[in-house]
Amino acid sequence: MNNNSNCNLLPSYKEELKRGRQVNVIYDDIIIPKSLTHFPYKKTFYIETLGCQANYRDEEIISGLLTKAGFMRLDDYQKAQILIINTCAVRENAEQKVKGHLGTFKALKQKNKNLIICLCGCMVMQEESVREIQNKYPYVSIIFGTHNVTNILNILDNYLTSLQMIIDVPSFSENIVEKLPDYRNNNFQAFVNITYGCNNFCTYCVVPFTRGQERSRLEKDILRECQFLVNNGYKEITLLGQNVNSYGGDLNDGSNFAHLLEAVAKLKIPRLRFLTSYPSMFNDDLIDVIAKYDNIVKYIHLPVQAGSNKILKEMNRHYTREFYLDLVKRLRKKIPNIHLSTDIIVGFPNETYEEFLETLSLVKEVNFSSAFTFIYSPRKHTYASTIEDNVTYEEKVRRFKMLKETLEANIIAYTDKMIGKIYPVLVEGFSERDKTMLSGHTEDNVLVHFQGDETLIGQIVNVKINVSHVYSLIGELING
Ligand code: 5AD
Ligand code: SF4
Repeated sequence: MNNNSNCNLLPSYKEELKRGRQVNVIYDDIIIPKSLTHFPYKKTFYIETLGCQANYRDEEIISGLLTKAGFMRLDDYQKAQILIINTCAVRENAEQKVKGHLGTFKALKQKNKNLIICLCGCMVMQEESVREIQNKYPYVSIIFGTHNVTNILNILDNYLTSLQMIIDVPSFSENIVEKLPDYRNNNFQAFVNITYGCNNFCTYCVVPFTRGQERSRLEKDILRECQFLVNNGYKEITLLGQNVNSYGGDLNDGSNFAHLLEAVAKLKIPRLRFLTSYPSMFNDDLIDVIAKYDNIVKYIHLPVQAGSNKILKEMNRHYTREFYLDLVKRLRKKIPNIHLSTDIIVGFPNETYEEFLETLSLVKEVNFSSAFTFIYSPRKHTYASTIEDNVTYEEKVRRFKMLKETLEANIIAYTDKMIGKIYPVLVEGFSERDKTMLSGHTEDNVLVHFQGDETLIGQIVNVKINVSHVYSLIGELING
């Protein structure tokens, strides 16, 4: 890997918006800079991630590189020498959280001058945010972006040489870096990137700015990573992309998502998932592949965002309400046991009450098994943020509550039906709330708690459902 760090490289939206760049795949070995092998302090780090699965995977990549350089990851930030916050920018509240954390870290830095505080992730891909951090939080040591997470060791090296704040936030990436350390947050569930970035430009969304041009990994590199996970006993793989359906479009070698998904399914991972699907690109070949392989879970996250054609158009979503409903019909015809989840935004600028009611009626018609719901949050530089909005925040909150109630009615009916039945559950660990209970998810992503011992963590076990608490279920282990 080249050491191409620059001490003062700020992100630029103009550069981020450019598409059509040639992408190179890099297979270089990792070189550990001398300053890190001879690091003069405790070789420990703490990393906290906000936001989506792409960030979660970046956390693993950063942790893997630091571990390779001899650092130990700690769960207690008070004891670590390097503190990293991997930020999110998708909605305003995620940015507020980061500022809260920086306040906490300030006190630690006052006690330990040599503490290294790093910020990375989507928030720092915005020039204004970087300038604000520079001015208001001068005790931050390093700011790096989403395009150079794989360069973390060299960036740290630069900091240790200068001991000045390093801002190294390239606006785009022309490289896909392979041969990264095999570091995962657990040894049974894995996220595997298939594309980086997004070319869709939904008008409310900051992701095409913060994660840049869409770039697909080569199928052979994805398959090698998945084969490694299968060989090492992993139970679940989730293929990751902002829009998995467009996988391969930039490779010009005939690659496409249906083909990739089938190739991964054939490796016989017990559970195969993928995130996130884009409705208008969800084709029949893909439906056929999902139907054909038992190990592809019959649960699809299919963000609809809104139920009104006018709002969908203003969001620059390339489908209509009718198209979405027809896709749901086609999916259910070929895969009768399919479960759907979705993302919905309420209160898009100037959304009328009638348009909002169209979202409610779509929700009732589709009968989602789960949903992530959001109040529209204006994001700098996006087209939607330039629209003058006539809907008050109070009205948005009212609609949000109505939407939640409608969704909840579906979800109650759905989870009630699970009572008395037996489901395979991938055991993920002890329950957060009750450490005597284990927790895991069914194939259709319902959270289940049940009594059991530690040896079951990472296994798929049968659980009979006894009680539904709507967003989680209580069950009992069934042997055999
Ligand atoms: N405001 C509210 N929700 C948003 N999302 C993305 N951008 C915004 C925004 N500006 C939601 C979308 C997306 C999910 C990941 O976050 O529903 O699918
Ligand atoms: Fe954002 Fe739309 Fe891309 Fe999803 S598809 S990341 S909502 S621009």
